Amino acid sequence: MIYLDHNATSPPRPGVAEAMLAAMTATYGNPSSVHGPGRRARQILDDARRAVARLVGVHESRVIFTSGGTESNHLALLGLAEAADHRGTILTSAIEHPSVLNPLERLQARGMRVIKLPVDAMGRVDAQDVERALTPDTRLVSIMAANNETGVLQPIAAIGALCRTAKVPFHCDATQWFGKLPLGVDAIGAELITLSAHKSGGPKGCGALIAGAALPLAPLLLGGGQERGRRSGTENLPGIAGFGLLAGQLAGQIEDESQRIMALQKKMERELLKSVPDAIILGSDAERLPNTTAMLIPGVDGETLVMTLDLAGFAISSGAACSSGKNNPSHVPLAMGWTPEATRSMVRVSLGWETTGTMVDSFISAFQRSVDRLRKGSAFA
Ligand SMILES: Cc1ncc(COP(=O)(O)O)c(C=O)c1O
Repeated sequence: MIYLDHNATSPPRPGVAEAMLAAMTATYGNPSSVHGPGRRARQILDDARRAVARLVGVHESRVIFTSGGTESNHLALLGLAEAADHRGTILTSAIEHPSVLNPLERLQARGMRVIKLPVDAMGRVDAQDVERALTPDTRLVSIMAANNETGVLQPIAAIGALCRTAKVPFHCDATQWFGKLPLGVDAIGAELITLSAHKSGGPKGCGALIAGAALPLAPLLLGGGQERGRRSGTENLPGIAGFGLLAGQLAGQIEDESQRIMALQKKMERELLKSVPDAIILGSDAERLPNTTAMLIPGVDGETLVMTLDLAGFAISSGAACSSGKNNPSHVPLAMGWTPEATRSMVRVSLGWETTGTMVDSFISAFQRSVDRLRKGSAFA
């Protein structure tokens, strides 16, 4: 199987599984215990926190380990809203991940105002729309760094600067950016940043929210006061050990790796457009993640193409992993102005750290063969 679905999840990088196993066996202690096994576990936790903080360019006191992107988004949104007594307005965009949009619906039901800013035909939020929508009533702005379906990068540095001037906290869901492009708080420009380990070769069920100590943030989980009281519960030490190892590896290779993957992406898109000339690459004129290509294939059902390619030995997706398998058209191309019918023809190819040129070459020919067959009406011939 050639795996080209890294935005859904990415296979573990070398060393990650071993670090996790060691944290379950050799270092099994509870990091809050004062005895030797506890102190050794605490060392793993501290080292991982330092590695993540260093990669993002923040003080380690700002790293709150969580169970992943979904929980980090909840902590940022629900935690800040509770601290603001559920009053005021939150600005967000129409293309956020459901782990942002769904908690915002809950906040709306509790009386907060939520403004969803539109995107243009390339899937970009306009920073000027953010500027126009900011008012003294705004409690938070939440805009993602890179869209999970199209890979389109959002103008987060500009939005961050606007928020700083307006003294409004800016939350940025950087789940898909993390591990694919160099990530520094300066590039992101947000004081609340969501990270997840498993989209770039780390373990599932582990992530972090980067948040300054001064930010009012009501914890979602109450208990033993771990993570400086911001996220109680015995830490997921195996996950955190894998996340720390990943962060350390990324620090040394992210620049070169993103260049290598971008070259594969460019070549793949060129060849795919030669073989299926009416395919439409979403966000083609926008800056995108170097690994993500979402396409509409006129006259072809995206889910059927994914299944056809699966049978041929290639794993891609028809959109976000959390929405594929449901027959609803994705909200992202819809927000870009595509019809529900066009949206159902979407497929997403996402390359990753272990993708090679040979894999991309075989995918290009399988893709062309599969599209031809489907268009001729014989998917499984
Ligand atoms: C943009 C974005 N935010 C949040 C999440 C949720 O992350 P996790 O799977 O770690 O909960 C995802 C995962 O698909 C994502 O793509």
